[in-house]
Amino acid sequence: MGEAVIFLGPPGAGKGTQAARLAEELGFKKLSTGDLLRDHVARGTPLGQEVKPIMDRGDLVPDALILALIREELAERVILDGFPRTLPQAEALDRLLQETGTRLLGVVLVEVPEGELLRRMLRRAELEGRSDDNEETIRRRLEVYREKTEPLVRYYEGRGALRRVEGLGTPDEVYARIREALGI
Ligand code: AP5
Repeated sequence: MGEAVIFLGPPGAGKGTQAARLAEELGFKKLSTGDLLRDHVARGTPLGQEVKPIMDRGDLVPDALILALIREELAERVILDGFPRTLPQAEALDRLLQETGTRLLGVVLVEVPEGELLRRMLRRAELEGRSDDNEETIRRRLEVYREKTEPLVRYYEGRGALRRVEGLGTPDEVYARIREALGI
């Protein structure tokens, strides 16, 4: 039987950082839709060319494109980072998990105040130059999160799967809280 963990939370919360460590320590595959899309953009594939302007604006890529990527990349033991992000994505994932007999171990919601999110992403813009880490796009990403992704908090709360984790503190402190919240 397969197993999955979902990382949910606003942009800059530390989902990618924590998901990578958990995946490595548990021997799970980390599946980040953002990383997959950035890889397509870097390689200049047709998908990359289609999604680049959407990502640069801070909007969401259409669900159908994301679901096609997920179907290709899903593994038996998987940590999902940045997916699902809309209710249709969450419902499609539920069906996929059911079809593949995969158990959801938990949905980790990493909570960080907005001022700190902004600081982290602006710092990353200086260090790495990620093209969606400028103030205007960051504000749009936060708005899209509140509008489209935040409803998933209630969705997973209603299923008893949500694990709220304080995302302030060092990465080691946050990681310890995540392991405790998941009980693994
Ligand atoms: P995506 O790549 O998923 O970006 P995001 O959700 O905006 O998240 P980030 O990568 O900015 O933050 P994170 O929470 O992973 O934090 P991180 O660990 O990097 O999506 C990008 C775009 O792709 C979207 O806008 C959309 O267009 C598209 N997309 C992706 N998935 C999609 C989907 N499912 N549907 C539709 N469209 C989709 O940390 C952030 C920074 O903080 C780093 O510099 C890190 O080093 C630092 N940091 C981490 N932890 C700490 C800490 N504890 N203290 C201080 N700094 C820390």
